[in-house]
Amino acid sequence: MGPGRTPDAAGESPTATSRSEALSWWEYLRENWIDVVNDAILHVDLTLAAVALAVLIGTTIGVLTYRRRWLGSLATTTTAAFLTIPSIALLGILIGPFGLGLTNVLFALVLYALLPITRNTIVGLRGVDPAVVDAAHGMGLGRVRVLWRVRLPLAWPVILSGIRVSTQITIGIAAIGAYVKGPGLGNEIFDGLGRFGSVNSLNQVLTGTVGIMLLALLFDLAYVVVGKLTAWRRPRTRLEGAAGEPTGAGGETIELREVSKQYPGHAVPAVDNLSLTIPAGEIVVLTGPSGCGKTTTMRMINRLVEPTSGVVTLGGTDVAELDLDEHRRHTGYVIQQVGLFPHLRVDANIGVVPRVLGWTRQRVAGRVRELLDVVGLTREHGRRYPRELSGGQQQRVGVARAMAADPPVLLMDEPFGSTDPITRARLQDELLRLQKQVRKTIVFVTHDFDEALKLGDRIAVLRPRSVLAQYDTPQAILAAPADDYVSAFAGSKRNLKRLALIPVADVPLGPAAGGLPSIAATATLRDVLDTMVRTGSTAVSVTENGAVRGVCDVA
Ligand SMILES: Nc1ncnc2c1ncn2[C@@H]1O[C@H](COP(=O)(O)OP(=O)(O)O)[C@@H](O)[C@H]1O
Ligand SMILES: [Mg+2]
Repeated sequence: MGPGRTPDAAGESPTATSRSEALSWWEYLRENWIDVVNDAILHVDLTLAAVALAVLIGTTIGVLTYRRRWLGSLATTTTAAFLTIPSIALLGILIGPFGLGLTNVLFALVLYALLPITRNTIVGLRGVDPAVVDAAHGMGLGRVRVLWRVRLPLAWPVILSGIRVSTQITIGIAAIGAYVKGPGLGNEIFDGLGRFGSVNSLNQVLTGTVGIMLLALLFDLAYVVVGKLTAWRRPRTRLEGAAGEPTGAGGETIELREVSKQYPGHAVPAVDNLSLTIPAGEIVVLTGPSGCGKTTTMRMINRLVEPTSGVVTLGGTDVAELDLDEHRRHTGYVIQQVGLFPHLRVDANIGVVPRVLGWTRQRVAGRVRELLDVVGLTREHGRRYPRELSGGQQQRVGVARAMAADPPVLLMDEPFGSTDPITRARLQDELLRLQKQVRKTIVFVTHDFDEALKLGDRIAVLRPRSVLAQYDTPQAILAAPADDYVSAFAGSKRNLKRLALIPVADVPLGPAAGGLPSIAATATLRDVLDTMVRTGSTAVSVTENGAVRGVCDVA
């Protein structure tokens, strides 16, 4: 409230003459701009201070309460309550504890600014894709890392829009602060209103009002820029490091001993007393109908689910005795929803665990490059964001990310479930090729029996509650299903499927003959049958590297 603008002080003011005569708004502005700019600066300072405090307090409340539904609701309703108090009343009430002036206004402003920030923090943090969070936990990023590196960056656009709304509220209510002698453009308005009807009072009110609107617009513009700048576009990682360390570690044996899991509030256990040994270096497929407990069983291995009873061992060590995050970092985990971090480029996604493990930048870069190659992606793919890849390519990145730290164990929960049949077949082939090189222990969950046949060294067919119906090699299960449940699950074309498991190279061949359709030695008996049906021939010649090896006929 500059004394220069009160009518009785007009005599000392440099704008003395303007006070006494009626001016147009422009003339008024020209004569008083220094005061107006000063008030505007104070208004901005006040707004920034209030919003900064509200961000600090609001995001803290949000982070502390978002995980509990009732706590979050309590926080939102409490902060919402302040918005319902007329600002002029709150400022008046605060004269009690804080007197007139800055502290009073600042306190009130922070209260008003809290709601949008708190609410958006809660909504933003809760809104993060659960699959991404699940993947993050599965990779052994602890709570704090998941919050800082995953949840907050992903919630940021929502939080920022809350801050933006708060800022608008603050700019408006800060004007009312002049009522209790706060600083800012409100003083123009209150002065003008105080001497309403006298010379230039309307000009003064108008100046304050337009000034506030302008500030609001400028702030909003600034938020658009801030939003763009903080869109979590990360710089590209350079992949010019040393070659990755040789992939060494083979698999480790996993043993489940009388493991059960009863989810709270459920009448029947999800897993009921399961015992299963998964030999090192093999692919073991857990299969069974939806809801039979496959996922639960798998998640007890990396302790995303803690068993109610029983023991899970890895390489002979009880996993309950291992450091939780350490254990998960050495257990690759791939899920159907993939759960790639959308705010990180593919390179960075693959490199997450090695970086957490403290590998040098060079070693991480080398490893990422190597893995892109292993899963059949180019370096150019590595520079993209996950949303810029197809579903199948994202699945590959998921596999690469799980293998990054060269874990002895890979847990794969319906990893190819959401891809089309052709991509799926290709991903399966690639997994098999990969496994030939790396020999991990792979636990693979699928409800698709054909996928189980193709991938599994062994298949565990599960009944509801993860009761083991049969645990054997694909050939053995097809040849002798343990009971009707297994044979129903194996499907009606059981014998045809058996043929698909027998390479033509493994059967005795007759002497070579000309004029027959040919087939490669890597094909299966099922392919031979296919060719016979297609060509009407009762024999095919088997070729290897261009040379005929022999003839396979109906007999
Ligand atoms: N987090 C959970 N909380 C409560 N119940 C669950 C949870 N996860 C799974 N279940 C229940 O446990 C049973 C087995 O589920 P799941 O292991 O996901 O089976 P699958 O992977 O074979 O489809 C189901 O009845 C499911 O509803
Ligand atoms: Mg499942």
